Amino acid sequence: MNSPNDEATHSLLRETLKVSTGKVNSYKRILLNKHGLIRFIIKSIIFFGGLTIFGILLIYIYETIKTPKYDSVLYDDNYVCHDSKTCGIKYHGDNYNFTNDDDNNNDKEINNTTVAFFSSLYSDNYLKGALLLGYTIKKHNPNHQMYLQYFPGRLSIDTICQVQSIGWIMKPVERIPPPWKGLYEGYRDQYTKLRMWSFTEFKDGIIYLDSDTVVLKYIANLFELIKPSTGFEFAASPDLWDGKDSNTFNAGFMLLKPNIDVYNELMRTHNISAYEKGYAEQGFLNEFYRYRYLRLPETYNINISLMKTTPHLWKVLLPNMNVVHYTCRKPFLRSDPGIYAEPYEFWIKLYNEMDKDLNLEKLESECKNK
Ligand SMILES: *[C@@H]1O[C@H](CO)[C@@H](O)[C@H](O)[C@H]1NC(C)=O
Ligand SMILES: *[C@@H]1O[C@H](CO)[C@@H](O)[C@H](O)[C@H]1NC(C)=O
Ligand SMILES: *[C@@H]1O[C@H](CO)[C@@H](O)[C@H](O)[C@H]1NC(C)=O
Ligand SMILES: *[C@@H]1O[C@H](CO)[C@@H](O)[C@H](O)[C@H]1NC(C)=O
Ligand SMILES: *[C@@H]1O[C@H](CO)[C@@H](O)[C@H](O)[C@H]1NC(C)=O
Repeated sequence: MNSPNDEATHSLLRETLKVSTGKVNSYKRILLNKHGLIRFIIKSIIFFGGLTIFGILLIYIYETIKTPKYDSVLYDDNYVCHDSKTCGIKYHGDNYNFTNDDDNNNDKEINNTTVAFFSSLYSDNYLKGALLLGYTIKKHNPNHQMYLQYFPGRLSIDTICQVQSIGWIMKPVERIPPPWKGLYEGYRDQYTKLRMWSFTEFKDGIIYLDSDTVVLKYIANLFELIKPSTGFEFAASPDLWDGKDSNTFNAGFMLLKPNIDVYNELMRTHNISAYEKGYAEQGFLNEFYRYRYLRLPETYNINISLMKTTPHLWKVLLPNMNVVHYTCRKPFLRSDPGIYAEPYEFWIKLYNEMDKDLNLEKLESECKNK
């Protein structure tokens, strides 16, 4: 039975919903019938609520699978002795008196004989990288010594001659093998970085750079950050994963403080499985210094992979960049730049400047004749 009022509603609905007369009836049933409406709302809540719960459950499962499970052994009371202060508590008990340690509030002027730049060269292939790195360190930090870790027997005499003539002091080191098998080949020598903590002649600090980086500024002022009164002993920049910030730092640029207690602890703990083993020394150091590291700006370790997602940042950040890291593609190993045209152009410009300055051809031939 249709009342006139009902007829009016009917046409209003037809108008609003822009549907045919046939369809109006079913909409009307839902929207005008009080019980129908309530049922519709309840059903919607159940449906969307269920969907949400299901979604949350999926995310939870994904996060559980994705997040690595650390056993807490690195933070175990019996195990941990990460830095001199913690070691102090461990060896001397809770009453250990910090103020007597390290003349904490009495920072001295940093003397350039007790700090150094470090890099490592484990293959002749990286010669050009090490040359340009040395050149750029010296250009901007002329009063600092530079040491190059290497394995005696691994490099040619020619390579050693060339890097020395640019200012690198050769530092022979014994290799630290990876504590387990199956590590990606490119990372297998990298645990040797841990040796730097034993070079206590540089007790006021080492700035370590991978040999595929270049330095664009004076950065030796970073040593100020680890003076005793600051309480910091280690600093690094966050990794940029495909141009995105990450929670972990990249071990291609590190500011560290050699210390025998810490070195022994590093050697004692690097073989336990409480960290991301796939990332070798970087995974280990990230776990070791997880709650203690001083986070430096990304500008101290610009991963050129930012060209993948945020290429405009190359130009924007360039004036602020301190160190550029040629991670995904190295101009000295591969000539075609792909998406890295701007970083490549930049590297080549620096390399040509070095060539003009030092006459690389002459240097090369002098080293060949030795
Ligand atoms: C800690 O060192 C301060 C300053 O040297 C000294 O006054 C204090 O007595 C020491 N405390 C202990 C428990 O040794
Ligand atoms: C730096 O240390 C060296 C070696 O100990 C010393 O001969 C030199 O005078 C010191 N320089 C300054 C500026 O303190
Ligand atoms: C330390 O700095 C002075 C200039 O301040 C320089 O003459 C000297 O060669 C530097 N020492 C080292 C080891 O680089
Ligand atoms: C730089 O970014 C790339 C791509 O995101 C990543 O694979 C690489 O590990 C990063 N480089 C370093 C040295 O961490
Ligand atoms: C790690 O190395 C130390 C020293 O060589 C050794 O005592 C310890 O048993 C090793 N730990 C594991 C889990 O392999």
